[in-house]
Amino acid sequence: MKIAFVFGLKPTLNPMNLKNFLFLWRNLSQMLTQHLIHIAPAERLKELQNDSVDLVVTSPPYPMVEMWDEILATQNDAIKTALADENGPLAFGLMHTFLNQIWQEVARVTKKGGFVCVNIGDATRTIGGEFQLYVNHAQIVQFFTQNGFSCLPAIIWRKPTNAPNKFMGSGMLPAGAYITLEHEYILVFRKGGKRVFKSDKEKLSRQRSAYFWEERNQWFSDLWEIRGTQQKLSSTHTRERSGAYPLEIPYRLINMYSCQGDTVLDPFLGTGTTAVAAALTGRNSVGYEIDSNLKEVIFEELNPKNISKINDKIKARLQAHRDFVQKRLAETGNPLKHFNRHHQFPVMTSQETELTLHLIKEIRHESDKITVAYESFGSL
Ligand SMILES: C[S@@+](CC[C@H](N)C(=O)[O-])C[C@H]1O[C@@H](n2cnc3c(N)ncnc32)[C@H](O)[C@@H]1O
Repeated sequence: MKIAFVFGLKPTLNPMNLKNFLFLWRNLSQMLTQHLIHIAPAERLKELQNDSVDLVVTSPPYPMVEMWDEILATQNDAIKTALADENGPLAFGLMHTFLNQIWQEVARVTKKGGFVCVNIGDATRTIGGEFQLYVNHAQIVQFFTQNGFSCLPAIIWRKPTNAPNKFMGSGMLPAGAYITLEHEYILVFRKGGKRVFKSDKEKLSRQRSAYFWEERNQWFSDLWEIRGTQQKLSSTHTRERSGAYPLEIPYRLINMYSCQGDTVLDPFLGTGTTAVAAALTGRNSVGYEIDSNLKEVIFEELNPKNISKINDKIKARLQAHRDFVQKRLAETGNPLKHFNRHHQFPVMTSQETELTLHLIKEIRHESDKITVAYESFGSL
């Protein structure tokens, strides 16, 4: 089980389940990842051991943003009462106290040297006749810095809006208008010091998980301009909007802060965007979500019939690199100095020569688990 070993997976062959057995048998020499979906509250990540997760990528319900009032209030009566009393500051504090239980679990299960990336927006709201900004990101920074994590430079995710009513307040008359929020944060924390790559296997996995030089230049900038994504859920669903982030957000973060074969946790899995990004990047994932109606959406996102569409992201990434190589040659007249043998193209630095992307070949669904098998480009 070469690849199961490389990717830290220990697939159990249940002889009663012939389909699973055949799936594993067909992919015996291939790379596999697993994606576990728990329809359960994330206040207790009981399936997860201490220090077991390499990376957390998530976006919680945003305190004081109205679309999340009901979900937060139904989980905590005091929040419901504070909102009914129009006591904004109290509701805000209680919502964060509630989320802190989940951050506490996130802190417990994250490995030393592991990262936590939280996408969060602040909220503007008039409640009890008082308009104010509820500074969500500051509460989350406070929690993690007080609980053993180092706060690292954050990303501003700018989401421009063209809505005609985007400006709030007194229009062109001074002293009563408010700035429009067109950004959210992606907060980045690390548990303890730098991750250490000791064994040859770990070092090779890190090299294979490299990203391109030109991606580094874009991804490690503190401003990401990425359009929001389709949020509409089907009419049969209990809520209208999913609150999903675009795939590009977890896709970049997973590439930036983890290696192939690592495990990525999303305690607020929603429609499963983090799981799709993990599958695309050759990482395992585990997600928690309280809304059981979303399970079918998650399974639909990572569905065998969508393999070709999902793989388009990898193909587009490779094509973007080829375009970069051409452009660079045209601009400088000098060919790039290094060569990636797996993909058979030039790269800017020696750190990119082992970089290896994988296409998804097969996806297998079980009741709360999705297994993904890959094919590789070139030689490994
Ligand atoms: C902002 S959405 C996440 C969207 C997700 N990133 C995506 O791309 O679809 C937050 C999710 O957290 C879920 N949620 C709220 N409270 C929860 C809890 N206690 N445990 C687990 N999930 C919870 C909500 O149902 C919602 O789907």
